[in-house]
Amino acid sequence: NSELQNKLKKAAAVKAADYVKDGMIVGLGSGSTVTMLVDELGRRVQEKGLKFTGVSTSISTAKQAESLGIKIVDLDSIDTIDLTIDGADQVDSDFNGIKGGGGNLLWEKIVAANSKKLIWIVDKSKVVDRIGAFPLAVDVEPFGSHHVLKKFSDAGFNPVVRTDKDGKVFKTDSNNIILDLHLHEINNPDKLADTLINTVGVVEHGLFLNAVNEVVVGKEGAPQILI
Ligand code: A5P
Repeated sequence: NSELQNKLKKAAAVKAADYVKDGMIVGLGSGSTVTMLVDELGRRVQEKGLKFTGVSTSISTAKQAESLGIKIVDLDSIDTIDLTIDGADQVDSDFNGIKGGGGNLLWEKIVAANSKKLIWIVDKSKVVDRIGAFPLAVDVEPFGSHHVLKKFSDAGFNPVVRTDKDGKVFKTDSNNIILDLHLHEINNPDKLADTLINTVGVVEHGLFLNAVNEVVVGKEGAPQILI
């Protein structure tokens, strides 16, 4: 993460904060760009009296938001989410995206699926011609996961069990594991999504297809909005 990349992430995050209006129920994503968004929203709550309710896609975002005075409610206590703002790892011009670099793709996809509108905040390096260079995270039930790994290996997906910084197997907020698929290039995202979700033991995968409505791209000058 270069200094420039962080600056561009922050510019996208601050721009996207303008979409949050009084009275809204807002899904809050996860990851470093969303951390910047939540900082900005917390500032607006404290300094400008912004009043909105958040639904979080991870334990860490919920903690950060609450520490800044943002009210967080459970997804099951509300009917619908007005708007969700999240980060992404890669997005192409057809709005096919990869998420899950932080391991939160399952809750992120559930929150996105229950939102009227989904916005991603990214820096310009994440907008690509074809997704796949970023490893694709697959959320897998630990029971029997060795067999899922084997199936993915046999299919040529180059799966790697994600570990944390101490070398222990990474666990998601749902206590699942993540297999990162080193695919390099994804030529047919829809077909791959079908294959992955139809593999028994797979809980969810990080391909977000036809999901996002707007992408706020941090770039030199002002952020660009892709619709
Ligand atoms: C979290 O699991 C991911 O889906 C993030 O949204 C994605 O990895 C973007 O993260 P950064 O904002 O940290 O790049």
